[in-house]
Amino acid sequence: MKKILFATSECVPFIKTGGLADVAGSLPKYFDKARFDVRVVLPKYLCIPEPYRNQMEYITHFYMYYNGRNRYVGILKLEYQGVLFYFIDNEEYFSGSTPYSDPLYDLEKFGFFSKAVLSILPSIEFQPDIIHCHDWHTGLVPVYLRNEFAADLFYTSIKTIITIHNLRFQGIWGIPDVKRITGLPDYLFTPDKLEAYGDANFLKGGIVYADYVTTVSETYVEEVKTPFYGERLDKLLWARSNCFCGILNGIDYQEYDPETDPAIPFHFNAETFRKEKVRDKMELQRELGLEVNAKTLLIGIVSRMTDQKGFDLIERVLDEMLSYDAVQFAVLGTGERHYEDMFRSFAGRYPGKLSANICYSEALSRGIYAGCDAFLMPSLFEPCGLSQLIALRYGTLPIVRETGGLKDTVEPYNEFTNNGTGFSFSNYNAHEMMATIRYAENVYYDKKRRWNQMVERAMAKDFSWNASAEKYQDLYDQL
Ligand code: ADP
Ligand code: GLC
Repeated sequence: MKKILFATSECVPFIKTGGLADVAGSLPKYFDKARFDVRVVLPKYLCIPEPYRNQMEYITHFYMYYNGRNRYVGILKLEYQGVLFYFIDNEEYFSGSTPYSDPLYDLEKFGFFSKAVLSILPSIEFQPDIIHCHDWHTGLVPVYLRNEFAADLFYTSIKTIITIHNLRFQGIWGIPDVKRITGLPDYLFTPDKLEAYGDANFLKGGIVYADYVTTVSETYVEEVKTPFYGERLDKLLWARSNCFCGILNGIDYQEYDPETDPAIPFHFNAETFRKEKVRDKMELQRELGLEVNAKTLLIGIVSRMTDQKGFDLIERVLDEMLSYDAVQFAVLGTGERHYEDMFRSFAGRYPGKLSANICYSEALSRGIYAGCDAFLMPSLFEPCGLSQLIALRYGTLPIVRETGGLKDTVEPYNEFTNNGTGFSFSNYNAHEMMATIRYAENVYYDKKRRWNQMVERAMAKDFSWNASAEKYQDLYDQL
């Protein structure tokens, strides 16, 4: 039996700000239980909903030296859907109203978390074969393991993997502060280790010290080795090519299922969507104050509102589309103030045509995935993207830019062969995006049979974890 420990800063159902939480919470369920004992460790944030916190069982606590003094490390556990989760407790670090806050404080918090992940192992009597780290928050796990913990026999056989979910976020700060906070020795802060462009870089440390590096789609692996997508680490990733691969994310097909999803009013499948999906649509239009009309093309957006997701393209052409096109938009998201205000302003100027929901709502996101006809995701870069996978599962055709995981998962409509599961464009250009949306409008209004066949194909696609969990298992075996 191989023992694997996932270390992550977020994880459904406990705490989520983006796709990382979906991955960390769902992938562990899909391993072969006879061969792999996969457990997960994350911080015990005070913002985890109380019902979950109340169910956690205290195991033990100890004190760990970090940033100048001994600090409390509590360990709690909770079994959920057959997976054992550990929570690291320290109220000084983890009592904010969101998991992330100020950059320097985040570095201190997640440096603490990374060291604690290693420190708790003897106490929980779990000696993993592999610690599987996710993103910069856990970048120091391999670094501490191969340095401060290297002399301890308990740790010598442990291997590490780091999965990059988003290369843009690296955990960067000035070297003197990071040295002082983490207590890592001077020799680590050189350009072949933690230093990058004069600063300390947590993710870089993880990439250098992990035994293997993965990311979440095959296209993104190739993209990040180029300067445009490489976020200044392209050469390092290139150098690690022989220990660096892409494994496509899946989604939890039990959680996201239009036949059973309790958050949607009318259930449907690939046979019944023609009658039922439109009822979800009208319910959504009613709920959001859009003009209720079964025939109007309704496009959904569920997203963090950042440059990554292509909102500047939308900004450039939305006025024109809302003035001239027979389309409606249902928007849900939070993020940069500029884009939040932009959608509020569109909603004010085009009532009945655009609904802006500037909040985080799991229930409304399901309503949008189920009730819309199309789903817009024109990302500048996209390591994998889960939203388009959820959209496909709910028969909502993605309109995407061909980058990263979007390119690997959405097959563009080909009117000559009658193939495809969505619409896509290649250049990061607002008018190219608009032309693609208009092409989708054209198919939707004038070739409805073709559209519906595309919905059938979209719903028949399998982006469950089955295939990808097997690839991770192979990688664990190989390591
Ligand atoms: P990223 O991780 O870059 O944000 P993904 O597409 O991988 O993008 O995952 C985003 C996840 O977060 C999806 O499950 C999506 O439905 C969800 N999500 C994003 N914004 C919101 C929101 N405002 N309300 C509810 N769910 C959201
Ligand atoms: C990141 C990426 C997204 C990916 C998710 C889960 O947040 O932006 O593309 O799907 O992580 O891997």
